[in-house]
Amino acid sequence: MKVAVLYGGTSSERPVSLVSGNAAISALREKGHEVTPVDVGADIAVTIQALKSAAPDVVFNALHGPKGEDGAIQGVLEWMGLPYTHSGIRASAVAMDKGATRMLLAAAGLPIAEGRVITPEELAEADPLPVPYVVKPVAEGSSVGVEIIRQGDNRRAEIAKNWRFGKEALVEAFVPGRELTAGVMGDRALAVTDILPAETAAFYDFEAKYKAGGSRHVVPAELPKSVTERALDYALRAHQILGCSGASRTDFRYDDETDTLIVLEVNTQPGMTPTSLLPEQAAYCGISYPDLCDWLVQEALT
Ligand code: DAL
Ligand code: MG
Repeated sequence: MKVAVLYGGTSSERPVSLVSGNAAISALREKGHEVTPVDVGADIAVTIQALKSAAPDVVFNALHGPKGEDGAIQGVLEWMGLPYTHSGIRASAVAMDKGATRMLLAAAGLPIAEGRVITPEELAEADPLPVPYVVKPVAEGSSVGVEIIRQGDNRRAEIAKNWRFGKEALVEAFVPGRELTAGVMGDRALAVTDILPAETAAFYDFEAKYKAGGSRHVVPAELPKSVTERALDYALRAHQILGCSGASRTDFRYDDETDTLIVLEVNTQPGMTPTSLLPEQAAYCGISYPDLCDWLVQEALT
Protein backbone atom coordinates (compact mmCIF):
# COMPACT_ATOMS: atom_id res chain seq x y z
CA MET A 1 0.00 0.00 0.00
CA LYS A 2 1.08 3.61 -0.49
CA VAL A 3 1.51 5.20 2.92
CA ALA A 4 2.52 8.79 3.66
CA VAL A 5 3.97 9.23 7.16
CA LEU A 6 3.37 12.65 8.71
CA TYR A 7 5.98 13.44 11.33
CA GLY A 8 7.88 16.34 12.87
CA GLY A 9 5.34 19.12 13.14
CA THR A 10 5.70 22.45 14.90
CA SER A 11 4.76 21.57 18.50
CA SER A 12 7.15 21.32 21.42
CA GLU A 13 6.98 17.55 20.89
CA ARG A 14 8.60 17.79 17.43
CA PRO A 15 11.75 15.90 18.53
CA VAL A 16 9.59 13.06 19.88
CA SER A 17 7.57 12.94 16.66
CA LEU A 18 10.71 12.72 14.54
CA VAL A 19 11.73 9.59 16.44
CA SER A 20 8.19 8.15 16.30
CA GLY A 21 8.01 8.88 12.58
CA ASN A 22 11.38 7.44 11.67
CA ALA A 23 10.60 4.23 13.54
CA ALA A 24 7.19 3.96 11.82
CA ILE A 25 8.74 4.61 8.39
CA SER A 26 11.20 1.71 8.80
CA ALA A 27 8.54 -0.59 10.20
CA LEU A 28 6.04 0.13 7.41
CA ARG A 29 8.75 -0.44 4.77
CA GLU A 30 9.57 -3.73 6.46
CA LYS A 31 5.91 -4.67 6.04
CA GLY A 32 6.18 -4.02 2.31
CA HIS A 33 4.44 -0.66 2.10
CA GLU A 34 5.58 2.05 -0.28
CA VAL A 35 6.32 4.83 2.20
CA THR A 36 6.65 8.58 1.61
CA PRO A 37 7.95 10.47 4.65
CA VAL A 38 6.42 13.95 5.01
CA ASP A 39 8.16 16.20 7.52
CA VAL A 40 5.46 18.67 8.56
CA GLY A 41 6.75 22.22 8.96
CA ALA A 42 5.24 25.63 9.57
CA ASP A 43 3.73 25.99 6.08
CA ILE A 44 0.77 23.63 5.74
CA ALA A 45 0.56 24.33 1.98
CA VAL A 46 3.89 22.50 1.58
CA THR A 47 2.51 19.48 3.44
CA ILE A 48 -0.65 19.50 1.33
CA GLN A 49 1.44 19.61 -1.84
CA ALA A 50 3.64 16.75 -0.62
CA LEU A 51 0.53 14.68 0.14
CA LYS A 52 -0.95 15.45 -3.27
CA SER A 53 2.22 14.29 -5.03
CA ALA A 54 2.48 11.15 -2.90
CA ALA A 55 -1.22 10.30 -3.47
CA PRO A 56 -1.18 7.76 -0.63
CA ASP A 57 -3.85 5.17 0.11
CA VAL A 58 -3.44 5.97 3.81
CA VAL A 59 -1.76 8.66 5.88
CA PHE A 60 0.10 7.43 8.97
CA ASN A 61 -0.05 10.21 11.53
CA ALA A 62 3.09 10.19 13.70
CA LEU A 63 2.65 13.78 14.90
CA HIS A 64 2.35 14.75 18.57
CA GLY A 65 1.00 17.85 20.26
CA PRO A 66 -0.83 20.93 18.99
CA LYS A 67 -1.78 20.92 15.27
CA GLY A 68 -0.89 17.23 14.91
CA GLU A 69 -2.88 15.71 17.75
CA ASP A 70 -5.67 18.25 18.29
CA GLY A 71 -7.85 17.83 15.19
CA ALA A 72 -6.09 20.46 13.04
CA ILE A 73 -4.18 18.11 10.73
CA GLN A 74 -7.11 15.68 10.89
CA GLY A 75 -9.29 18.47 9.43
CA VAL A 76 -6.85 18.98 6.56
CA LEU A 77 -6.86 15.26 5.82
CA GLU A 78 -10.66 15.18 5.91
CA TRP A 79 -10.73 18.01 3.34
CA MET A 80 -8.30 16.08 1.16
CA GLY A 81 -10.38 12.90 1.45
CA LEU A 82 -7.41 10.89 2.71
CA PRO A 83 -7.90 8.08 5.24
CA TYR A 84 -5.57 8.46 8.23
CA THR A 85 -4.49 6.50 11.28
CA HIS A 86 -5.55 7.20 14.88
CA SER A 87 -8.41 9.43 15.99
CA GLY A 88 -10.57 11.82 13.98
CA ILE A 89 -11.21 15.53 14.50
CA ARG A 90 -13.57 15.40 17.46
CA ALA A 91 -11.77 12.84 19.62
CA SER A 92 -8.43 14.51 18.87
CA ALA A 93 -9.72 17.96 19.80
CA VAL A 94 -11.38 16.77 23.00
CA ALA A 95 -8.44 14.65 24.16
CA MET A 96 -5.99 17.50 23.51
CA ASP A 97 -8.03 19.64 25.89
CA LYS A 98 -7.44 18.21 29.35
CA GLY A 99 -10.27 20.29 30.83
CA ALA A 100 -12.82 18.99 28.31
CA THR A 101 -11.52 15.44 28.74
CA ARG A 102 -11.97 15.64 32.51
CA MET A 103 -15.59 16.74 32.11
CA LEU A 104 -16.50 14.01 29.65
CA LEU A 105 -14.82 11.26 31.65
CA ALA A 106 -16.30 12.42 34.94
CA ALA A 107 -19.77 12.63 33.40
CA ALA A 108 -19.37 8.99 32.35
CA GLY A 109 -18.40 8.02 35.90
CA LEU A 110 -14.64 7.62 35.47
CA PRO A 111 -12.54 8.85 38.41
CA ILE A 112 -10.48 12.00 37.96
CA ALA A 113 -8.46 14.10 40.42
CA GLU A 114 -10.03 17.08 42.09
CA GLY A 115 -9.19 20.11 39.96
CA ARG A 116 -10.29 22.81 37.55
CA VAL A 117 -9.23 25.09 34.76
CA ILE A 118 -8.13 28.56 35.90
CA THR A 119 -6.39 31.62 34.47
CA PRO A 120 -2.72 32.38 35.18
CA GLU A 121 -3.97 35.50 37.03
CA GLU A 122 -5.98 33.35 39.42
CA LEU A 123 -2.94 31.20 39.98
CA ALA A 124 -0.86 34.27 40.76
CA GLU A 125 -3.36 35.38 43.42
CA ALA A 126 -3.62 32.34 45.66
CA ASP A 127 -3.18 28.58 45.89
CA PRO A 128 -6.13 27.25 43.86
CA LEU A 129 -6.07 23.93 45.73
CA PRO A 130 -4.53 22.64 48.94
CA VAL A 131 -0.86 21.71 48.39
CA PRO A 132 0.48 19.56 46.88
CA TYR A 133 -1.11 20.21 43.53
CA VAL A 134 -0.13 20.07 39.88
CA VAL A 135 -0.25 22.95 37.38
CA LYS A 136 -0.28 21.94 33.73
CA PRO A 137 -1.00 23.32 30.29
CA VAL A 138 -4.49 22.39 29.10
CA ALA A 139 -3.18 21.33 25.69
CA GLU A 140 0.37 19.98 25.73
CA GLY A 141 1.96 16.56 25.79
CA SER A 142 5.06 14.82 27.14
CA SER A 143 4.74 16.71 30.47
CA VAL A 144 5.83 19.96 28.82
CA GLY A 145 5.08 22.80 31.26
CA VAL A 146 3.97 20.55 34.13
CA GLU A 147 4.83 21.81 37.65
CA ILE A 148 4.16 20.27 41.03
CA ILE A 149 3.62 22.77 43.85
CA ARG A 150 4.46 21.30 47.23
CA GLN A 151 4.42 22.61 50.77
CA GLY A 152 6.85 25.53 51.13
CA ASP A 153 7.28 25.93 47.37
CA ASN A 154 7.09 29.65 46.51
CA ARG A 155 7.30 29.44 42.71
CA ARG A 156 3.55 29.89 42.16
CA ALA A 157 3.60 33.62 41.25
CA GLU A 158 6.63 33.12 39.02
CA ILE A 159 5.02 30.20 37.19
CA ALA A 160 1.86 32.27 36.68
CA LYS A 161 3.85 35.28 35.41
CA ASN A 162 5.86 33.24 32.92
CA TRP A 163 2.92 31.15 31.75
CA ARG A 164 3.30 30.60 28.01
CA PHE A 165 0.66 27.96 27.38
CA GLY A 166 -2.37 30.11 26.60
CA LYS A 167 -5.08 31.79 28.65
CA GLU A 168 -5.75 28.80 30.86
CA ALA A 169 -4.01 26.35 33.12
CA LEU A 170 -5.31 23.13 34.62
CA VAL A 171 -4.75 22.64 38.33
CA GLU A 172 -5.23 19.19 39.83
CA ALA A 173 -4.72 17.70 43.27
CA PHE A 174 -1.45 15.75 43.29
CA VAL A 175 -2.18 12.06 43.74
CA PRO A 176 0.81 10.39 45.40
CA GLY A 177 1.96 6.95 44.37
CA ARG A 178 2.58 5.53 40.96
CA GLU A 179 2.20 6.58 37.35
CA LEU A 180 0.40 3.91 35.34
CA THR A 181 -0.62 3.79 31.72
CA ALA A 182 -2.73 1.48 29.57
CA GLY A 183 -2.85 1.35 25.79
CA VAL A 184 -5.82 0.44 23.62
CA MET A 185 -5.87 -1.02 20.13
CA GLY A 186 -9.39 -0.90 18.73
CA ASP A 187 -11.66 -2.70 21.17
CA ARG A 188 -8.84 -4.22 23.20
CA ALA A 189 -7.00 -2.75 26.18
CA LEU A 190 -3.46 -4.13 25.97
CA ALA A 191 -1.70 -4.02 29.33
CA VAL A 192 -0.90 -1.77 32.27
CA THR A 193 2.61 -0.35 32.56
CA ASP A 194 4.11 0.95 35.80
CA ILE A 195 6.40 3.88 35.04
CA LEU A 196 9.20 4.33 37.53
CA PRO A 197 11.07 7.60 37.01
CA ALA A 198 14.77 7.55 37.88
CA GLU A 199 15.40 8.58 41.50
CA THR A 200 16.68 11.94 40.28
CA ALA A 201 13.45 12.87 38.49
CA ALA A 202 10.77 14.69 40.48
CA PHE A 203 8.11 12.93 38.41
CA TYR A 204 7.72 11.41 34.93
CA ASP A 205 8.83 14.61 33.22
CA PHE A 206 10.14 15.25 29.71
CA GLU A 207 13.69 14.07 30.54
CA ALA A 208 12.48 10.99 32.32
CA LYS A 209 10.33 10.20 29.31
CA TYR A 210 12.96 10.41 26.62
CA LYS A 211 16.46 10.26 28.13
CA ALA A 212 18.03 6.82 28.14
CA GLY A 213 17.77 5.56 31.73
CA GLY A 214 15.36 8.37 32.58
CA SER A 215 12.68 5.92 33.58
CA ARG A 216 11.97 2.22 33.85
CA HIS A 217 8.82 0.62 32.50
CA VAL A 218 7.40 -2.48 34.13
CA VAL A 219 4.97 -4.38 31.86
CA PRO A 220 2.73 -5.76 33.15
CA ALA A 221 2.66 -3.57 36.24
CA GLU A 222 2.84 -5.44 39.52
CA LEU A 223 -0.58 -4.67 40.88
CA PRO A 224 -3.48 -6.50 42.52
CA LYS A 225 -5.49 -8.15 39.75
CA SER A 226 -8.50 -5.96 40.51
CA VAL A 227 -6.48 -2.77 39.99
CA THR A 228 -5.12 -4.00 36.65
CA GLU A 229 -8.64 -4.87 35.57
CA ARG A 230 -9.94 -1.48 36.63
CA ALA A 231 -7.20 0.36 34.73
CA LEU A 232 -7.78 -1.71 31.57
CA ASP A 233 -11.52 -1.13 31.83
CA TYR A 234 -11.08 2.64 32.30
CA ALA A 235 -8.62 2.85 29.37
CA LEU A 236 -11.05 1.11 27.04
CA ARG A 237 -13.97 3.16 28.28
CA ALA A 238 -12.03 6.43 27.97
CA HIS A 239 -11.15 5.48 24.36
CA GLN A 240 -14.84 4.87 23.67
CA ILE A 241 -16.21 7.89 25.56
CA LEU A 242 -13.97 10.26 23.61
CA GLY A 243 -14.72 8.43 20.37
CA CYS A 244 -11.09 7.51 19.64
CA SER A 245 -10.05 5.41 16.64
CA GLY A 246 -7.09 3.09 16.13
CA ALA A 247 -4.80 3.26 19.15
CA SER A 248 -4.83 5.46 22.23
CA ARG A 249 -3.18 5.42 25.63
CA THR A 250 -4.70 6.50 28.92
CA ASP A 251 -2.49 7.68 31.78
CA PHE A 252 -3.29 7.21 35.46
CA ARG A 253 -2.08 7.89 38.98
CA TYR A 254 -2.48 5.10 41.50
CA ASP A 255 -2.06 5.45 45.25
CA ASP A 256 -1.50 2.02 46.84
CA GLU A 257 -2.21 3.30 50.33
CA THR A 258 -5.71 4.54 49.62
CA ASP A 259 -6.36 2.32 46.57
CA THR A 260 -7.13 5.45 44.56
CA LEU A 261 -6.92 5.14 40.78
CA ILE A 262 -7.58 8.29 38.76
CA VAL A 263 -7.42 9.04 35.06
CA LEU A 264 -5.01 11.83 34.11
CA GLU A 265 -5.53 12.04 30.38
CA VAL A 266 -6.05 10.24 27.10
CA ASN A 267 -3.35 10.39 24.41
CA THR A 268 -4.75 10.01 20.92
CA GLN A 269 -1.28 10.05 19.34
CA PRO A 270 0.67 7.94 21.84
CA GLY A 271 4.43 7.96 21.48
CA MET A 272 5.68 5.49 18.88
CA THR A 273 9.39 5.68 19.62
CA PRO A 274 11.09 2.34 20.16
CA THR A 275 11.07 2.95 23.94
CA SER A 276 7.49 4.17 24.01
CA LEU A 277 4.82 2.66 26.19
CA LEU A 278 2.18 1.56 23.68
CA PRO A 279 4.67 -0.36 21.47
CA GLU A 280 6.01 -2.09 24.61
CA GLN A 281 2.51 -3.11 25.65
CA ALA A 282 1.74 -4.36 22.16
CA ALA A 283 4.95 -6.43 22.26
CA TYR A 284 3.90 -7.86 25.61
CA CYS A 285 0.66 -8.97 23.89
CA GLY A 286 2.66 -10.59 21.08
CA ILE A 287 2.21 -7.76 18.57
CA SER A 288 5.53 -6.62 17.11
CA TYR A 289 6.22 -2.97 16.34
CA PRO A 290 5.89 -3.47 12.56
CA ASP A 291 2.64 -5.37 13.11
CA LEU A 292 1.32 -2.53 15.30
CA CYS A 293 2.09 0.03 12.57
CA ASP A 294 0.58 -2.22 9.92
CA TRP A 295 -2.54 -2.72 12.04
CA LEU A 296 -2.96 1.06 12.36
CA VAL A 297 -2.78 1.40 8.58
CA GLN A 298 -5.32 -1.38 7.96
CA GLU A 299 -7.58 0.01 10.70
CA ALA A 300 -7.55 3.45 9.06
CA LEU A 301 -9.22 1.92 6.01
CA THR A 302 -12.14 0.37 7.89
N1 DAL B 1 2.65 12.79 24.18
C1 DAL B 1 3.49 11.62 24.10
C2 DAL B 1 4.06 11.44 22.75
C3 DAL B 1 2.77 10.40 24.55
O1 DAL B 1 1.71 10.54 25.08
O2 DAL B 1 3.26 9.31 24.36
MG1 MG C 1 -0.16 13.42 26.72
